[in-house]
Amino acid sequence: MNKACVLGLGLLFATPVVVNSADAGANYRQHCAKCHGEDGRGKTKAGQRLGARDYTDPKVQASVSDEAIAKSITQGYKDKKTGRQIMKPTQGLTDAEVKELVAYMRKFKGR
Ligand code: HEC
Repeated sequence: MNKACVLGLGLLFATPVVVNSADAGANYRQHCAKCHGEDGRGKTKAGQRLGARDYTDPKVQASVSDEAIAKSITQGYKDKKTGRQIMKPTQGLTDAEVKELVAYMRKFKGR
């Protein structure tokens, strides 16, 4: 094996496959878990105070569309009765990251 080839192999293994987007789990823990809980049940202090629902409940999952989840992430969520903004928009996420977060929320179902 010549030098260039060894170098090439080294680069191949040193380069992570995904370089520019944080994975959904990390984004969820950073932006959402404070209220919705690591397990999606909303049993955190802030979640209880604000009335976060239990996303492991299939009924709760059935009540929101993928579009609504994506919208709540990018535009935030207002309490339907009071009109108060209870969840702020999350900034700085790419479209792909928003999509992955939607899929991540869906995985709580039935846990
Ligand atoms: C400050 C607390 C807080 C944070 C942070 C937060 N949420 Fe929420 N979110 C709430 C509350 C409270 C509700 C209303 C009750 C519910 O549906 O859980 C809500 C509602 C939602 C809904 C329902 C939208 C609908 O149309 O019914 C989804 C989906 C959601 N949040 C996902 C997320 C995701 C994903 C993140 C992170 C990007 C996040 N939330 C961050 C508090 C928060």
